[in-house]
Amino acid sequence: MHRKLFAGSTGAGVSAESGIPTFRGKDGYWRNLDPAKLATPEAFARDPELVWEWYRERRQRIRNAQPNAAHAAITRLAQIADEFLLVTQNVDDLHKRAGLPKEKMVQIHGDSFVTRCSRCDFSRKDYTPSVAAATYGAAGEQEQEQEQRDVVPRCPECDALMRAGVVWFGEHLPWNELQRIENYLDRGTCDLVIVAGTTATFGYIIDWALRARAPNGELVEVNPEDTSLSEFATRLVREPATIALPRIVDRITG
Ligand code: OAD
Repeated sequence: MHRKLFAGSTGAGVSAESGIPTFRGKDGYWRNLDPAKLATPEAFARDPELVWEWYRERRQRIRNAQPNAAHAAITRLAQIADEFLLVTQNVDDLHKRAGLPKEKMVQIHGDSFVTRCSRCDFSRKDYTPSVAAATYGAAGEQEQEQEQRDVVPRCPECDALMRAGVVWFGEHLPWNELQRIENYLDRGTCDLVIVAGTTATFGYIIDWALRARAPNGELVEVNPEDTSLSEFATRLVREPATIALPRIVDRITG
């Protein structure tokens, strides 16, 4: 029997319809500042308060957002596949809240709800909205208030400044997560690779998609606009992710 081996890759465009601005889109700017210039070690060294303010606003926006039909479609794709791995550049938790198990997903640019020390190994996972009330109750609310009071949190272990647990421009990708992608690719190629909602600015996104596709497999790009990946895709779907992805998955499930 034929086994269904799928892979996915998502970027900011998949969360755009949940109200989370993309990086390079017209509403990506925050107070006239380019996110690509805020998400850097240099920006944090120069003005950690400003960078934290930006992350706090993004966290709040994510807390208020809901997963959309594109996130749900990816979860369904994972359920019907014999093997599946999603590599997402998104640091929000919307794939997780749409029910995608963490072992089927690599957040290659980190997780914006992680706060980690800029000097030592200390890190903590700050609560996420969906589980806050149920899991943390009043403690969750207190933590949120605390978060708002601490303009720049300090490490409880070494007192250095804490930062968001995301990958900034010029930083290395997390080694363990890279290994998970390599292991998946080593196990064999996929019948279907879907890349949705990313400009594919980083070469590794294109490399992984090309390596994942079997010689006669499909590489589908879902994006209203042309990207650096488009020339390699076997099918271009120039539609918003919430329209295209549910339809693609419906077709697969018949
Ligand atoms: P970008 O902001 O670069 O690109 C968003 C992409 O989504 C664009 O290609 C849009 O055309 C597309 N798009 C917009 N709305 C869409 C919709 N409704 N459905 C489908 N596609 C849509 O975001 P990313 O490619 O994810 O990295 O950016 C990658 C990385 O750049 C981020 O993870 C971040 C940033 O710098 C780091 O911080 C290291």
